[in-house]
Amino acid sequence: MLKGKTVLLCITGGIAAYKSADLVSKLKKADVNVDVIMTEAATKFVTPLTFQTMTQNRVHVGMFGLEDEINVEHISLAQKADVILIAPATANTIAKIANGIADNLLTTTVLASQARIIFAPAMNSTMYLHVATVENMEKLKSRGHIFLKPGEGRLACGDIGPGKMSEPAEIIDALEYYFTPKDFLGKKVIITAGPTIEPIDPVRYITNHSSGKMGYSLANEFHNRGAEVILITGPSSLEPPLNIETIKVNTTQDMLDAVKIHFDSCDILIKSAAPLDYKVENYKNEKIKKSSD
Ligand SMILES: Cc1cc2nc3c(=O)[nH]c(=O)nc-3n(C[C@H](O)[C@H](O)[C@H](O)COP(=O)(O)O)c2cc1C
Repeated sequence: MLKGKTVLLCITGGIAAYKSADLVSKLKKADVNVDVIMTEAATKFVTPLTFQTMTQNRVHVGMFGLEDEINVEHISLAQKADVILIAPATANTIAKIANGIADNLLTTTVLASQARIIFAPAMNSTMYLHVATVENMEKLKSRGHIFLKPGEGRLACGDIGPGKMSEPAEIIDALEYYFTPKDFLGKKVIITAGPTIEPIDPVRYITNHSSGKMGYSLANEFHNRGAEVILITGPSSLEPPLNIETIKVNTTQDMLDAVKIHFDSCDILIKSAAPLDYKVENYKNEKIKKSSD
């Protein structure tokens, strides 16, 4: 879905600007054309040369250079873009855009565009939870713009809380979601995935080598296509997909019970799990002792 698209990546002045290099690398791997605008503050964290080299496109920072004026860049960049992605998005830039301020190339380009904007906010938790930022984000959401929920944890400033920019892989997922036509909107899909296990005693069980990859990929695809997805998965080493209701089960009976709960309300059931064909006849409540026979 991303192949051949043009993403206008706007980078603002936060510590997370270093993650934008990884993001560009992932976008290029997906055959996306990437134009980059950086604010002056962003250039204090990462150099434009990094992004210029990675994107093979000129990186745009100022508005008033003689070269910048030839194409009236704030108009041409906005027109070329399939989507505008601001990652990281500082509290300052979010506030400016919410209030229609156009005092640098980024904010002027955004104001000159009708395109949907995807924001990946990154800031200290106090800034993120500040009523001014919350109100600014609400204002932008009400205009149809999209905010990726930042992660929680230890931030660069040492504080613990929300404000970590979404990981580049999550941002790529969000772009995939954005560009995928929603031809399963209104449909509810149950997908089973992975192996099941059957316990022998409290410490041992039998299982199989199913990874769950097929079911997880299907879940992502249906989610991207607008379906409400319920993923019912046996033990798998895969990360549970973001934004998809995931029910974790162990045994084949657990999986069947979970499917039965949702079956009547679903439109499609995809059985991609590899439930065990065998069950232990006499489960032992205590660990079976080692014996020579
Ligand atoms: C070391 C350092 C780190 C900063 N990190 C952030 C940040 O993560 N998020 C944020 O909103 N502002 C951060 N700021 C403040 C912004 O750089 C500042 O508000 C700046 O005016 C943003 O400009 P811009 O929105 O035009 O890029 C940081 C400032 C410094 C000095």
